[in-house]
Amino acid sequence: MKVLVIGKGGREHALVWKLAQSPRVEQVFCAPGNAGTALDGVNVPIDVNDFDYLIRFAKKENIGLTVVGPEDPLANGIVDAFQAQGLRIFGPTKAAAQIEASKVYSKKLMRHADVPTAEFRVFDHPEPARKYIESREYPVVVKADGLAAGKGVIVCSTTEEAIAAVNTIMVREEFGRAAGRQIVVEKRLEGQELSVLALVAGRTIITLAPAQDHKRAFDGDTGPNTGGMGAYSPAPLGSPELLAEIEKDALVPTVHAMKRARTPFRGILYAGVIATNQGSRILEYNCRLGDPETQPVLMRLKSDLCELLEAAVDDRLGEITEEGLQWDPRPAVCVVMASGGYPGAYARGKMIQGLAEAAQIPDVKVFHAGTRLEPGGMVVTDGGRVLGVTALGGTLAEARERAYEAVEKIGFPGAFWRKDIGEKGLMKRPEGHS
Ligand code: GLY
Repeated sequence: MKVLVIGKGGREHALVWKLAQSPRVEQVFCAPGNAGTALDGVNVPIDVNDFDYLIRFAKKENIGLTVVGPEDPLANGIVDAFQAQGLRIFGPTKAAAQIEASKVYSKKLMRHADVPTAEFRVFDHPEPARKYIESREYPVVVKADGLAAGKGVIVCSTTEEAIAAVNTIMVREEFGRAAGRQIVVEKRLEGQELSVLALVAGRTIITLAPAQDHKRAFDGDTGPNTGGMGAYSPAPLGSPELLAEIEKDALVPTVHAMKRARTPFRGILYAGVIATNQGSRILEYNCRLGDPETQPVLMRLKSDLCELLEAAVDDRLGEITEEGLQWDPRPAVCVVMASGGYPGAYARGKMIQGLAEAAQIPDVKVFHAGTRLEPGGMVVTDGGRVLGVTALGGTLAEARERAYEAVEKIGFPGAFWRKDIGEKGLMKRPEGHS
């Protein structure tokens, strides 16, 4: 079977790499892809939102399964468009993708389904939002309703910051008119975060190995928020007890409520969890795999990913037994190497050296994100997050050591990375948490 992966980041390189290992897969295409997907698969220069062109390509190449990486095409209805043409595609419909694409929808669904989440209010005018913020005795988070390229969630420490966030989203409409028409103002929660990703179809939910992301740009969780500067799996915070609790209290009621509302979810349901000292809460849902969480998670997945995704698409997920989902017991760590200036402005087109040397280290895979293959085979930078250097190790400490050894072999002008990826996993689990 031929497979098409949609997207161009590190998550999509990991998908291409993993799907290419399936005995069921003859060839993997990636639209539009990056230098890494060009090496492990075949790139096709089609934009992720050009559904007509993607459908023409899928028909011409007789693609047996399309797998969508990013949220944008999902929110724009790529699954509905492919299905209308009788094409097999993995991911939620436009209606179900609202769980990520509309923060208002998501929070109301959580309230309706009694999912533990931060208390919140929805506003469609700035003035009542400001008054509400001034009346709160705790710090808040202000969220634009719509997708905002990962920038629409503003975590505030003071009333002034929160009011500035309302103005950014609703008055200056910095994330666009539609995204800022409504906002969610919610109580800011404190605790460690965990990414719990689950494969969902019908009422079947298969939780994947838990991972922990590192959202801030710099060590010690300082600096601006990014798409994620590194991840590791399994995260000790994601104990079997916690995962069982998340499944029972959040995933099951959410999936059932969506089914009852005739917007059943099929695809990856990603719960952003925070472990507070009052118990765990769902910060947000995403409708797709996490980036960079996917890189260490897929590095550890021993089962055939293609079979799992096909089972979800064909409504056979309930037939997957525990043996159908096998993990390498070794931890994996992914360190993101980013362009200087990211998440702000950064340069592109910088030559990347040392990729071959890094690849020689056993149990290391360098997943590409913002990279481009130049004629002649030179790989240059082409984005903020450039590479996700991922390693397996006998222990988390060994996986970290190996990932950083590989990072040290690679260089490009302006490169920076966090030095503390996975460090939290080495510490004792927080007290009072199951
Ligand atoms: N790593 C965060 C995300 O994928 O949304």
